[in-house]
Amino acid sequence: MCGITGIVSRVRTDIGKILVECSSKLTYRGYDSVGVAAVHNGTVDLRKDVGTIDMVDQQLGLSKMKGDRGIAQLRWATYGAPTRINAQPHFGCTEVFFGAHNGNLHNYYEYREHLIETGHIVRSENDGELCVHAVDKYYEETGNMFEAVRKSTRDLKGAFAYAVGRADEPEIYAVKMGSSLVAGVADTDTIVSSDLPSILPLTNRVIYLQDGEMIVLTPDSIKVYRVEDGKLLDRKPEVSNVDAHAAEKGGYPHFMLKEISEQPQVARDVLGVLQDAKSEDWLRLLEDAEKHYLVACGSSYNAGIVGTYYFNKLAGVPLIPTLGGQFGSMYANTLTEESLCILVSQSGETKDILNVLNHVQETGRGKTLGILNVIGSTLMFNANSFIPMACGYEVSVPATKTYFSQTIIFAYLATKLGERNGNLDPSEAKSVIKMLKEQLPYLAQQTIDKTGILAKNLATTLMDAPDLYCLGYGFTDGVAREGALKIKEICYNHCEGMYSSEFKHGPLSIVTEDYPVIFVTTTEDSWMVINHINEVACRGGRTIVVGEKEDKLQPYVQGKFDYLEVPKSNVLLNPLVDVIPLQLLSYYLSVDKGINPDLPRNLSKTLTVD
Ligand code: M6R
Repeated sequence: MCGITGIVSRVRTDIGKILVECSSKLTYRGYDSVGVAAVHNGTVDLRKDVGTIDMVDQQLGLSKMKGDRGIAQLRWATYGAPTRINAQPHFGCTEVFFGAHNGNLHNYYEYREHLIETGHIVRSENDGELCVHAVDKYYEETGNMFEAVRKSTRDLKGAFAYAVGRADEPEIYAVKMGSSLVAGVADTDTIVSSDLPSILPLTNRVIYLQDGEMIVLTPDSIKVYRVEDGKLLDRKPEVSNVDAHAAEKGGYPHFMLKEISEQPQVARDVLGVLQDAKSEDWLRLLEDAEKHYLVACGSSYNAGIVGTYYFNKLAGVPLIPTLGGQFGSMYANTLTEESLCILVSQSGETKDILNVLNHVQETGRGKTLGILNVIGSTLMFNANSFIPMACGYEVSVPATKTYFSQTIIFAYLATKLGERNGNLDPSEAKSVIKMLKEQLPYLAQQTIDKTGILAKNLATTLMDAPDLYCLGYGFTDGVAREGALKIKEICYNHCEGMYSSEFKHGPLSIVTEDYPVIFVTTTEDSWMVINHINEVACRGGRTIVVGEKEDKLQPYVQGKFDYLEVPKSNVLLNPLVDVIPLQLLSYYLSVDKGINPDLPRNLSKTLTVD
């Protein structure tokens, strides 16, 4: 949530242009409001408003702003409504100090009051403004920016990162205290940002900051210090090999469609990663653990549900799935030194997940295995070990290819673990891995090709459905939840994903003539799902089936497009590809409704708040 970008340049006089170019790569982090503060000839030009970066740029001419340094911020609102006054960056008491933050201040109310009592003019209800006032306050005391930033950081509680500067000093300062921060050094510019994509247009020489560190940007150098004692740290930039063009649409109308279409390649890439030498460490962590908690949120949690079924079936090992936010109150006291928390997070920055990571580390009860996509994330640096999802950038807010990769990782780990613990004999394990490697990428491509047009046509018939259900059974439990999440997230139709045998225990009462219910099935479970389909069909409900072609399912298909038929494969591959038609259905439904699926309202891709 929220993205900050600060740039100091030796040669530029048109800082707005590069700030807009770089920070627009962080759009997935926030698009409630946007602002740029640029320093030109010793004065700060601050322009901000509600809307996406493209809209605000057009309206206020952000990219035409003059100056040699500045800070941009893209906001996902938490403290304070998404209004112009709450948009970031902010000034301090006077227009000399400017700055912006990402994250949340937990002592917002007390600290705001304290600042007002001590004479500060706080204009907004946004917690980011307090970071700027804190620096302003300590600058008055010390007359020194470096000390003012250090002292301020001690006052501010929570998980956040911020960047701040003064109109009459050439540096920009930034601090990391729980939210991600990356810096880069280019030939004539230095840059600090919430995430790598906004650095890459300028340079691939980067430094990932750690919590408790501050960075000072001058036109020629970046220096990293420890906030606590001000000690200069020896941090050298490393070369990132991430492709700067990966965060572009490449001819697709939306990132979401591009990312769905990348899934066959994701299957190849992630299976390649899983077969390298490091997987021995991951399997040993899994083998040595006496309890396995699976902790995730949103789509990552849905993938974890699919994983739970793979672990049961292939490894005979129970995974305990739990939402990140639930873990503390539901399971924290049951952790032992032999527990393993598998923390699944695309961003590696989700606060609900980092809370669990911190708890395990602080108590020393158990180990952590991260499954993550963003290289350089907090989860990557702090988990005992991590498995990369190998998806490249996922820019669209709805998760698609990363969810797909996560489910493949679970299928692979469960197979290897099952082979090692004797739940599968070696030839069985070998044939599952062969199937994943050799068949899955093609199957994913065939599924995209085969279901794309069906999903597109089906979408037009669901435009006016105020709500619907998406039901799964056994292996497709997590798939149905994921399909429902996609429809809710980007189409704004209410869609509940649930276990199909549970539907008769209450929700069935909603079914009237033509009420749509989607059933997702594997060939192994369709005999059971037919009962659940019947319960809806005999009450006049409209049943939509996602799965392989089976004659016994045909009688329940009413409309031309009500069978999202996936290619024939194997029961272990069904749950992996069944999600694809649901991703496509939600995509087309969203577009038909005039929504931009990449940027659904009220959301952010990276949720670094509680
Ligand atoms: O980065 P994470 O995997 O930790 O994010 C978790 C959820 O916020 C995320 O999966 C969210 O549900 C997706 N936008 C859904 O498409």
